[in-house]
Amino acid sequence: MTWEKGDFLYEGKAKKVWKTGDPKVYIIEYKDHLTAFNAEKKATLEGKGRLNNEISAYLLAHLAARGVPTHFVERIDERHQAVRAVTIIPLEVVVRNVTTGSLCKRLGVEEGMELPRPLLELYLKDDALGDPLVTDDHALLFGWATEEELATLKAITLEVNDLLRALFRDLSIVLVDFKLEFGRTAEGDLVLADEISPDTCRFWDLATGDRLDKDRFRKDLGDVLGAYREIWRRLSTREA
Ligand code: C5P
Repeated sequence: MTWEKGDFLYEGKAKKVWKTGDPKVYIIEYKDHLTAFNAEKKATLEGKGRLNNEISAYLLAHLAARGVPTHFVERIDERHQAVRAVTIIPLEVVVRNVTTGSLCKRLGVEEGMELPRPLLELYLKDDALGDPLVTDDHALLFGWATEEELATLKAITLEVNDLLRALFRDLSIVLVDFKLEFGRTAEGDLVLADEISPDTCRFWDLATGDRLDKDRFRKDLGDVLGAYREIWRRLSTREA
């Protein structure tokens, strides 16, 4: 199938979105821009968009093949993906398997603790407010999601965590935490949307503890692109 860019819809920090001739399909372009700390820190890394497109397409296809409803249709070329047209639910759903990041900063808990079960958090997707942590009641009472949608998106998130943890464990990578977004199709189906990449996940090398994700950029650890390349090398040479 060939998809052509139609009306321009939206530009985010790492992606652009277009309509296509098919009202049920959008095109996403993965940009080389990298941002952190609510876009206070910015960079352009040539090749990052291509890598995230590859990685995200691989992971979304992996999940879809295992029954997870996703927006993924196909990878079109180096920078572009065709996805189902959705309206994004304004919640960032974060799952944590190991303590780090904002959790440790906010609650003062020790870093690097393996949690006895996955910890699920909701954040309001609002750059101007700095994406604050919110509760289920906030989401329900302010109409960001219905009770049924919350239950569904939590169940999907935990399923995604199980599937991705197993996938990365086989590649000697610890899936520390990650963020998912969800969208509603015109038919009212809730599907996993956005991307799954080293921009949105924390990956620690099992043997060395090396950070293989955007924390290399956040913390100035160097060779950011090398880490993204390493994630793609391990995924693309994986025996399915
Ligand atoms: O910063 P924090 O520890 O809350 O991040 C938890 C996880 O969610 C990390 O994997 C991070 O990359 C991801 N995240 C994201 N987009 C945000 C906030 C967090 O992808 N706006």
